[in-house]
Amino acid sequence: VRESLWLSLTLRSTRSLCRAGFMEGQPQGPPNPAGMENGTEPCGEERASEAQETTVTEGAAKIAFPSANEVFYNPVQEFNRDLTCAVITEFARIQLGAKGIQIKVPGEKDVQKVVVDLSEQEEEKAELKKGANLAPGDQPRTAAVGEICEEGLRVLEGLAASGLRSIRFAREVPGLQSVVANDASARAVDLMCRNVQLNAVAHLVHPRQADARMLMYQHQRASERFDVIDLDPYGSPAPFLDAAVQAVSEGGLLCVTCTDMAVLAGNSGETCYSKYGAMALKSRACHEMALRIVLHSLDLRANCYQRFVVPLLSVSADFYVRVFVRVFTGQAKVKASARVKFSAACGPPIGPECEHCGQRHQLGGPLWAEPIHDLDFVGRVLQAVSTNPGRFHTSERIQGVLSVITEELPDVPLYYTLDQLSSTIRCSTPSLLQLRSALLHAGFRVSLSHACKNAVKTDAPSSALWDIMRCWEKECPVKRERLSEASPAFRILSVEPRLQANFAVRDDANPSSRQRGLKRFQANPEANWGPRPRARPGGKAAGEAMEERRRLHQNKRKEPAEDPVQRAARLKTFPCKRFKEGTCQRGDQCCYSHSPPAPEDTAAAASPDHPKTSYQNPPGSGVAAGPGVD
Ligand SMILES: C[S@@+](CC[C@H](N)C(=O)[O-])C[C@H]1O[C@@H](n2cnc3c(N)ncnc32)[C@H](O)[C@@H]1O
Repeated sequence: VRESLWLSLTLRSTRSLCRAGFMEGQPQGPPNPAGMENGTEPCGEERASEAQETTVTEGAAKIAFPSANEVFYNPVQEFNRDLTCAVITEFARIQLGAKGIQIKVPGEKDVQKVVVDLSEQEEEKAELKKGANLAPGDQPRTAAVGEICEEGLRVLEGLAASGLRSIRFAREVPGLQSVVANDASARAVDLMCRNVQLNAVAHLVHPRQADARMLMYQHQRASERFDVIDLDPYGSPAPFLDAAVQAVSEGGLLCVTCTDMAVLAGNSGETCYSKYGAMALKSRACHEMALRIVLHSLDLRANCYQRFVVPLLSVSADFYVRVFVRVFTGQAKVKASARVKFSAACGPPIGPECEHCGQRHQLGGPLWAEPIHDLDFVGRVLQAVSTNPGRFHTSERIQGVLSVITEELPDVPLYYTLDQLSSTIRCSTPSLLQLRSALLHAGFRVSLSHACKNAVKTDAPSSALWDIMRCWEKECPVKRERLSEASPAFRILSVEPRLQANFAVRDDANPSSRQRGLKRFQANPEANWGPRPRARPGGKAAGEAMEERRRLHQNKRKEPAEDPVQRAARLKTFPCKRFKEGTCQRGDQCCYSHSPPAPEDTAAAASPDHPKTSYQNPPGSGVAAGPGVD
């Protein structure tokens, strides 16, 4: 059952700039080298190259890496880097188009792309520029990759590691004035300098060794801000956000990766609240919830400085989320962010328990509740990649993911999943097309979500959705005698549906991205893929470290599976709490004992000297939960 969003006004005030900027930053590892605080440009001196190195080619960049895990590199993030190049290219097309400069994208035939701006303000500017810059017969000014464009974008990659991403920007994205590639690690910056030379981009890419927060705080003045800031940290970007929202130019682009998905997906709600100012819930829709938490957090921090964010594209992929937002200044809009997000400030219109399943509601959030993408912008990126697929190695996936995004219902936050709906009422699962058809027949809108394969986004109220599932259960009945009366399934199925669902499959139930067989979701790219361990001096190569961990933990993590007959016999030795309270409805079917405990057991349990037995704390059950509680 869909959780209600916490739309409360009781948020703690945003932490002071100092705390957000520095104290929370500790988990990122203290970047220490002398002189780093003000940032140094360390490429003057020649440094010895490492003996043990690997060269990697990604996009138009060729990067040397130490074979040991001393500087971070994760090949699986190629999709992230490709997508970022595609997004910044379209952003540059818009920004430079407004100045009458056309960008030349490698592989694109038609340089004369029409510029359609994102905001009305820029539309006006573009209109003005159209006529203003070109006399009849004049050639338009152009900007090509690898060239400095004086009026182009100033880019900062705050956590650049080997410099791979920055070098790719320089070699693949036209319309750049400069790219500052910053990292706190001396080893990383050392390597970055050599990679910049190797790729002949020293005129565009400026390596820098600084704490990214300090560097961004030094670029708060309007004239010194960056047009694009890319943050790709280990885990959470939270410590960097306060500085980032101040260091990005008016209407500038902020690109942020978060790989702390366990936190954002609700495994530790309190940690999520302390980092992002929002409570995450464990839910099937956790990936979109993660995106909405990050957007909320960015907006909250921007609001401190009379700024606000406008999401362009928000992607959940593999083991991370990535958001691309523009940052603007405006008191009125800042106030509106509060109104939109806290529109239900007078209290959520629900009781403590769910009217459908009887379970207690969980409160999460606050979340970003507005659209998470600018569909016009997404369409532009999609079109550019589709018409020039040779540009990126992961073009096919970018097309698939962006196509699903263009199909997502923009005004419906979160989603249900097919398996969640059917497992809640313990019935077989309808096919995606059957469920979508039933919703469409009933007059509701429905879409997929790029964030989850089985997602069903719909504007149908939950009452209609459960009615549809009740009708489905009538076609494939569930054995009621197996259901406990207190279970969500029992409660939901004991109500007759008011809506008569029609599961006949409709043509329009099959979304275009699915019909076209696009590569919408990631297949495992390689063995043991996922987030990489933090780089360390003398660190083992990622693969080696993983192998060693596996050897170490082999057969040590799980208890051997218990024989089902033995398990049943063991459970029968525990008394049933519900039986004791007189509420157990399972009779002989109950897996716990309904016989009163033997007197010696009672005496033993009551004796303070008696050691704890498995009776008091059975293996596999939490002490708090105890036997008799499912
Ligand atoms: C995940 S890696 C970056 C990967 C890179 N963006 C890419 O695409 O390959 C994170 C990097 O952040 C650096 N780092 C950690 N804390 C930092 C800080 N406070 N300031 C600057 N860099 C930092 C680490 O040295 C590491 O190289």
